[in-house]
Amino acid sequence: MLVTRHQPREVTYRFVKEPRGHRPRTVVQSSMSRSQVALLGLGLLLMLLLYVGLPGPSEQTSWLWGDPNITILAGLTPGDSPLFYREVLPLHQARRVDVVLLHGKAFNSHTWEQLGTLQLLAQRGYRAVALDLPGFGNSAPSKEASTEAGRAELLERVLRNLEVQNAVLVSPSLSGRYALPFLMRGHHQLHGFVPIAPASTQNYTQEQFWAVKTPTLILYGELDRILAQESLQQLRHLPNHSVVKLRDAGHACYLHKPQDFHLVLLAFLDHLP
Ligand SMILES: *[C@@H]1O[C@H](CO)[C@@H](O)[C@H](O)[C@H]1NC(C)=O
Ligand SMILES: *[C@@H]1O[C@H](CO)[C@@H](O)[C@H](O)[C@H]1NC(C)=O
Ligand SMILES: *[C@@H]1O[C@H](CO)[C@@H](O)[C@H](O)[C@H]1NC(C)=O
Repeated sequence: MLVTRHQPREVTYRFVKEPRGHRPRTVVQSSMSRSQVALLGLGLLLMLLLYVGLPGPSEQTSWLWGDPNITILAGLTPGDSPLFYREVLPLHQARRVDVVLLHGKAFNSHTWEQLGTLQLLAQRGYRAVALDLPGFGNSAPSKEASTEAGRAELLERVLRNLEVQNAVLVSPSLSGRYALPFLMRGHHQLHGFVPIAPASTQNYTQEQFWAVKTPTLILYGELDRILAQESLQQLRHLPNHSVVKLRDAGHACYLHKPQDFHLVLLAFLDHLP
């Protein structure tokens, strides 16, 4: 099922600094008008309908876990065209790579919190950052995002400004419009790439894919009739890749099979050189 619903974007976020002595972090509060609450209610109802209508047995447990020791930070990237992001820091010993999560058309950074992906990565020692792409979630639209070069530069600047080290980029669906131009220009900056039926692969040649040495995990849902085969055909030209097909999962396979998704992602991350 393809969902083209947009989240209400009128929620205003205020950032409050913690008093001294605490670990510096940003606390997010939200305030909404009545029409915004109504919009949110409608959004939640659509959400519910969406999840009830998903194929296959749902894996509710990963939606519910919560580790009180994990704080999800939120903020805006510094500099021009700020983007909203959610971040977790490694709970125990830090790993060498940072994970950057993009999102598809019907989603935003909150998806990775709801799914427990951010929390799980923190538990497993990874720093992870989930972005709201321009025009989604709490990020304003950006003129820069209207060109291919602009999207690549925007992503590069965000990684630099957030001091992301040894980035592994997770890119589902629509976010391929950002991830693929970035991959083609800046793959030397990527330690790993996890495309999940991304858009825009048709825009690049076989030779361009061959040139990218970044270790890649190609993930897609068995039931995906939207972008899975089209993107796979192109991504197969990446010289160092593995392919995982999630059974009984559609285009947003990470939502349909979160436990399988998390297992496969962690196995890939844990084995990166
Ligand atoms: C949270 O941290 C405390 C202190 O380190 C520890 O005792 C407790 O087990 C942790 N809780 C969870 C759910 O991991
Ligand atoms: C595809 O490539 C063309 C030419 O390089 C570019 O103008 C266009 O924005 C690209 N489309 C996407 C979706 O990246
Ligand atoms: C290919 O990627 C794997 C990680 O998935 C890595 O361990 C291996 O070193 C890479 N091979 C080359 C030739 O870069």
